[in-house]
Amino acid sequence: MNIQTVTCIFFSPTGTTKTIVEHIAQGIDAEKIEMVDVTKRSDRQKWNVFSKDDLVILAAPVYYGRIPEEILPYFATLKGRQTPVVPVVVYGNREYDDALKELYDTAVDGDFVPVAGGAFIAVHSYSTPDRPIAENRPDKNDLQKAEAFGIDIRKKMEASESSAEAALSNVPGNVPYKVPENLNLIKEARKSIPFTPETDQETCIQCGQCVKTCPTEAVFLDETVTTDRWQCIICFACIKNCPTGARQMNDQNFTRAISHLYDLCRKRKEFEVFL
Ligand SMILES: Cc1cc2nc3c(=O)[nH]c(=O)nc-3n(C[C@H](O)[C@H](O)[C@H](O)COP(=O)(O)O)c2cc1C
Ligand code: SF4
Ligand code: SF4
Repeated sequence: MNIQTVTCIFFSPTGTTKTIVEHIAQGIDAEKIEMVDVTKRSDRQKWNVFSKDDLVILAAPVYYGRIPEEILPYFATLKGRQTPVVPVVVYGNREYDDALKELYDTAVDGDFVPVAGGAFIAVHSYSTPDRPIAENRPDKNDLQKAEAFGIDIRKKMEASESSAEAALSNVPGNVPYKVPENLNLIKEARKSIPFTPETDQETCIQCGQCVKTCPTEAVFLDETVTTDRWQCIICFACIKNCPTGARQMNDQNFTRAISHLYDLCRKRKEFEVFL
């Protein structure tokens, strides 16, 4: 099979999934590479059915060991026609648990054929200078390996007559998938506390960057910046993109909830690919 078009469809609030996908696509080196960023709700377009000659890379970060609730229903609307697909998940050096399996299964349900898959590591969204988690990743070595993964995908496709011949029989993960208990705890806690980033009005310069980068349209700028706790997925995009540091997560319940993360994630993990 000759790959002419690679379509990369990704959800990436803090940008690391996007970086890894770009390097995989560079390695595949097709005539046409389309980058489709569906991080923001307003950018989630409807697609016609993909053809069997396209190759799709479907990518998302791991949230609570699963594909983020925010994007999974959109991924489930994508339809292939025995179209080859590469499910990719990116996680913050804890575990990817059942996320890759969930993405693989979603693609199969949409009549895609997984031909490869990968679980990559990147800086944790909640990493801070005093509690660094996978800081500086993906590093040069990670990105070289992502590109090499792309080259291997191309070789595999060139050596196969059809997507069925290139099919990947499975990826790791439990079925049924593990329940995301921490997410359920947050939903419960939100009945009484915001559990969401706040804005320091003293240092806020009202630039609107947080409004622009929020994937779920949870931030509003009027006379002050306000946040809709029920829409916030705690992705930290607004915090990472605030130019003055005014956007902060000060909730003590959050700090307590993630205090164990640093210990859990201390040992460097390497990514896994399946071909
Ligand atoms: C709400 C939330 C839940 C997360 N859950 C996990 C997890 O279960 N395991 C893990 O290793 N990293 C977890 N992470 C870290 C992200 O998967 C990781 O930082 C990823 O690189 C973020 O991707 P992005 O830069 O494309 O947004 C979580 C991050 C967030 C915001
Ligand atoms: S990005 Fe920061 S400085 Fe800009 S409006 Fe939002 S909170 Fe204020
Ligand atoms: S308000 Fe919530 S959902 Fe929006 S960018 Fe900030 S952390 Fe993410």
